[in-house]
Amino acid sequence: MSQITRRRFVGSGMTIVALASLPRARAQAMAPSLGYPATRIGSLGTLKEGVGQYFAYPDDAAQGLLLKLGKPAIGGLGKERDIVAFSAACTHMGCGVAYKGERLQCPCHYSMFDPAKNGQVYQGLASSYLPQIPLRIDAAGDIYAVAVEGLIWGRARNILSKGA
Ligand code: FES
Repeated sequence: MSQITRRRFVGSGMTIVALASLPRARAQAMAPSLGYPATRIGSLGTLKEGVGQYFAYPDDAAQGLLLKLGKPAIGGLGKERDIVAFSAACTHMGCGVAYKGERLQCPCHYSMFDPAKNGQVYQGLASSYLPQIPLRIDAAGDIYAVAVEGLIWGRARNILSKGA
């Protein structure tokens, strides 16, 4: 019978902890991307670094935030790969988030999300990423929302049907 050393025991425990935390993070980062009709939500000419622009997508009742971060972001477009967009509905209880101090911050219970890392929760009560909104930029510099990665808070489907 082989003896297990303290070092091997601690090492195997750390491996188990690392593996146990992997599926949730990967699942959130790999949320299904649901495509909707492309909608113009801004332009390179009017987008300012550090200033969030609100828009409606994929329907008029769903608010999103378009951002130019000034540093590369996962899924970022533009010359600096820093233009991203997210659902503005906090994944804790749906309050509207705002862009402040390089974070998307919720005023209700102070959750914070990292827009450079797929909307990952930075701190607070929210337990899942903000849905990222993939973008397309055309030759004229117009910015379009083309999909939503994941489910917008409080919805069974990302597009509400009339009367829903
Ligand atoms: S609704 Fe955003 S932290 Fe609670």
